[in-house]
Amino acid sequence: MLIRIRRGWEIPESQVTPENCFLDRRRLLKTAAAGSMLIGSAGLLTACDDMSVAEAAEDDDPSAKLYPVSRNERYTLDRPITDESLATSYNNFYEFGSSKNIAAKAQALPIRPWTVTFDGMVEEPREVDIDDLLARMPLEERLYRHRCVEAWSMAVPYSGFPMKALVDFAKPLSSAKYVKMTTFLDPEVAGGQRAAWYPWPYVEGLTMAEATHELAFIATGLYGKPIVKQNGAPLRLAVPWKYGFKHIKSIVRFEFTDERPKSYWEVIQGSEYGFWANVNPEVPHPRWSQASERVLGLNEQVPTLLYNGYAEFVADLYKDIDTAEERLFM
Ligand code: MTE
Repeated sequence: MLIRIRRGWEIPESQVTPENCFLDRRRLLKTAAAGSMLIGSAGLLTACDDMSVAEAAEDDDPSAKLYPVSRNERYTLDRPITDESLATSYNNFYEFGSSKNIAAKAQALPIRPWTVTFDGMVEEPREVDIDDLLARMPLEERLYRHRCVEAWSMAVPYSGFPMKALVDFAKPLSSAKYVKMTTFLDPEVAGGQRAAWYPWPYVEGLTMAEATHELAFIATGLYGKPIVKQNGAPLRLAVPWKYGFKHIKSIVRFEFTDERPKSYWEVIQGSEYGFWANVNPEVPHPRWSQASERVLGLNEQVPTLLYNGYAEFVADLYKDIDTAEERLFM
């Protein structure tokens, strides 16, 4: 019997409530402790009312001092940058629920300490603290388009570092063919992970050629600040020529392997979500067209571009792949 799991992108737009502002209790308490003269005054309440989701998350992130970083001008946009309040309130992060407004729930995720494991086919497996890793990586900002398989898109300034720098740091063996990435697993803080019918933890994979391609980026910041929890703190993948579900969030492990990893969505519905997931307007999703996309904030439908507009960068990666054998665009 085929059990059809309803995905978040199947909910009608009318059910999506933007989460522009929420009250972070920890920050409220800290603010109150630091400025006792304000306690009980209308001033404190107003300050908290105005607090954005992004601001709230900065407080317990020691990497805040690293940002902003200088922009790499090589990567340009053909559309305005999406409003920060929208990009940080309209999210897919199934660990915290299958709707778009998971931002408040995601604040439960502890992001310090955060240990990243490098293992599998590497010279030597190791575990590294996120702040030690950040100190060794060449941070820069890039403007990237982001195209979700659900046919909406946005354009955001990510800060972070080229994934190639991370691969070099991990020292994989020459026999490694893929990088398998895994998200944290903690059903106590992530309510969605208590739903046993999903194959937790979230897993994604890239070939070594993709992972070391200049466009593959590990995002640790967003809008010139540490990346907020709902967008995948403290580190997430950004591969802008692929559909958004490849952009795995809150990664704890990079495993180098010679076996192609089966990703989270591929396990759930392999006929609709594959390994490659490269954007192509001419290859429809089995249940909807991919010819155009709704740009968040503009409420405008624009044509979708091959490889999400990054064909000049990445098309060569796939020129020798037999499309009769491989579903490059799904
Ligand atoms: N990573 C994890 N761990 N869990 C998720 O549910 N959703 C994916 C991707 N990464 C997801 C994830 C999907 S479907 C999309 S479109 C993007 O995250 C959304 O990223 P954003 O919220 O920063 O826009």
